[in-house]
Amino acid sequence: MTESAAIPIGGRAAGCPFAPAPELTAAQKDPELPRATVPSPLLGAFDAVIVTRYEDVKTVLADDQLRMGGSMPYQAGNLLSYDGPEHTRLRRMLTGSFTTKRARELRPRIEDVVNSALDAVEEAGRGADLVRTFCTPIPTAVICELLGVPYADREEFQRRTAIALDFTTSREVQMEKAAEMEAYMAGLVARHREDPGDNVLGRVVRDFGDQLTDSELAGIGNMLLIAGHETIASTLSAGIALLLRNPDQLAVVRDDPSAVDGAVEELLRFCAPAAILPRQAAGNICVRDQEIKAGERVVASALAANRDPGRADQAGLAERSDRSDRADDGVPLDELDVRRPPQRHLAFGFGPHQCLGQQLARMELRVALPALFNRFPELRPTVPHDEVDYRTNALVFGVNELPVTW
Ligand code: HEM
Repeated sequence: MTESAAIPIGGRAAGCPFAPAPELTAAQKDPELPRATVPSPLLGAFDAVIVTRYEDVKTVLADDQLRMGGSMPYQAGNLLSYDGPEHTRLRRMLTGSFTTKRARELRPRIEDVVNSALDAVEEAGRGADLVRTFCTPIPTAVICELLGVPYADREEFQRRTAIALDFTTSREVQMEKAAEMEAYMAGLVARHREDPGDNVLGRVVRDFGDQLTDSELAGIGNMLLIAGHETIASTLSAGIALLLRNPDQLAVVRDDPSAVDGAVEELLRFCAPAAILPRQAAGNICVRDQEIKAGERVVASALAANRDPGRADQAGLAERSDRSDRADDGVPLDELDVRRPPQRHLAFGFGPHQCLGQQLARMELRVALPALFNRFPELRPTVPHDEVDYRTNALVFGVNELPVTW
């Protein structure tokens, strides 16, 4: 790869949206860490070091010299705007609400929400769009309830989120939407200051309200609201579209409850909905034997890393000198295999910024996917697989519309 190469927006291959862009796959084979231009309407096109190997992505995401600050516009309260002790301080205020135990406790409520969404799909009838009737309503209802956000306000915040996360939206419009989101959340924060109630926002206000400004509280609320619905909706839609293309693997998710947890991890590994994670070097650092200089931007690709045939963390692979494309169960990592032995993947990132909501996300996916395929065992899209409308131009990969029949 040459210095002037550009990584396509979203980091995905044209015409094959589940796969990394060929430029990223080429970068993985490059013995050097290549530099490339990344087009970003939000930040302007910028040059960055492209990191694609599994071990390298883990190294940069864990390195405290590689910072979020500078790689994204600053938003008070949004954990992705902070590094170091400030980040730890804010993150600690939230971790108790997003534990594995808390996700388990939520399971019965998630099952109710999923059943209501299934009824809505049935009511909409054949031709129903699963994105509107199933994938979006489930995480939206769950995060609204968790946070204390009125579900009735969903259309407005869903619309703003879609615009704000779209890579092709201009910086001005993204800033305008961010300001609208902040104004909306400021109203909710004021209400929670008066009467905290028993939800995540209320708990943060009650326990840490005196250490946080209103603007930080609004930022926390918005971060959780956006991350809490958009990411899961996108992963559900991408995962369902992928399984519909692979009916034998869909049958495993439908018929074998013991395979569901593993299948969800495999879908996350394979889709890596947040494909590209940006950072900026605060000091010189070394990745393998190569230097990334202070001030350089870095783009780590979770999607490419998850398929890295050279990852050394699997039995037998560490000793191999070739960069073979076979994982230890024999199915190459660039193929979907829902029965694959558990793989560590980077779909939720790695290091201090690793996804706060990952246990909640896993629980929603584990409940929703088998429930959908059991209610509609003959589910299939009404459009040919290659005409499904994938969203590749946004921070989070998903499907815009998924009309189905059964
Ligand atoms: C399948 C769904 C999800 C995926 C694929 C996903 C992916 C990610 C990734 C890759 C990161 C790290 C970003 C980076 O290092 O630059 C992240 C961070 C984060 N996620 Fe998620 N996420 C999902 C669901 C959720 C949910 C449901 C919530 C909240 C309810 C959430 C809240 C967050 C927060 C707050 C951060 C920032 C953490 C920090 O900076 O300390 N995510 N997510």
